[in-house]
Amino acid sequence: MALQRDFSTILIERDRVAQRVHELGHQITRDLREAGVNLDDPQAANSRVVIIAVLTGAMVFVADLIREMPVKLHIELVAVSSYPGTSVESKGVKMKTALPSDLGGAHVLLIDDILDSGQTLHTLVDLIGRQHPASLRTCVLLRKPGKAKIDIKPDYVGFDIPDEFVVGYGLDFDGLYRNFPGIAVLRR
Ligand code: IMP
Ligand code: MG
Repeated sequence: MALQRDFSTILIERDRVAQRVHELGHQITRDLREAGVNLDDPQAANSRVVIIAVLTGAMVFVADLIREMPVKLHIELVAVSSYPGTSVESKGVKMKTALPSDLGGAHVLLIDDILDSGQTLHTLVDLIGRQHPASLRTCVLLRKPGKAKIDIKPDYVGFDIPDEFVVGYGLDFDGLYRNFPGIAVLRR
């Protein structure tokens, strides 16, 4: 693939990503059931499941993850920008769209591509929490350990990775490489 010329290493091959996403989908489904959610009837008390995907990075991950979850669920998208353009350091969190306003009583699963400084998840968890969901869990595909400036522990983590700038499977550099099917380190 032509994209690969720009990478120094492929950190995680697509098959390994797929396997892990499969495991996460099943784990999340099991946990929802154990939390008392009636997975067949979203109308039942306390059984509305809402997935909130953080755009644009979580797009590919969420598309695969929800197809590993045999659950009646709603999907909401929220656009946030934290790394405008070509920067590789967090510049703070900017909401580009409003959150859904009907999360009270719902079981909410917030999904992002990567936990870096933790600011994005922290901000969103805070805002969603104010609506009093029945439960709020967080899921990230990737986590860079030791980098979080804010103490936030996602409930589900796909992979812990070294502190390198990665692209692929939804993650970008200046808008590019999101369509690479694995996770790669950009050649600098
Ligand atoms: P945080 O708010 O610092 O945790 O940053 C999370 C956001 O920054 C993610 O949603 C990504 O969009 C972006 N980000 C952080 N690290 C990387 C990376 O290595 N590659 C691409 N995007 C990244
Ligand atoms: Mg992002």
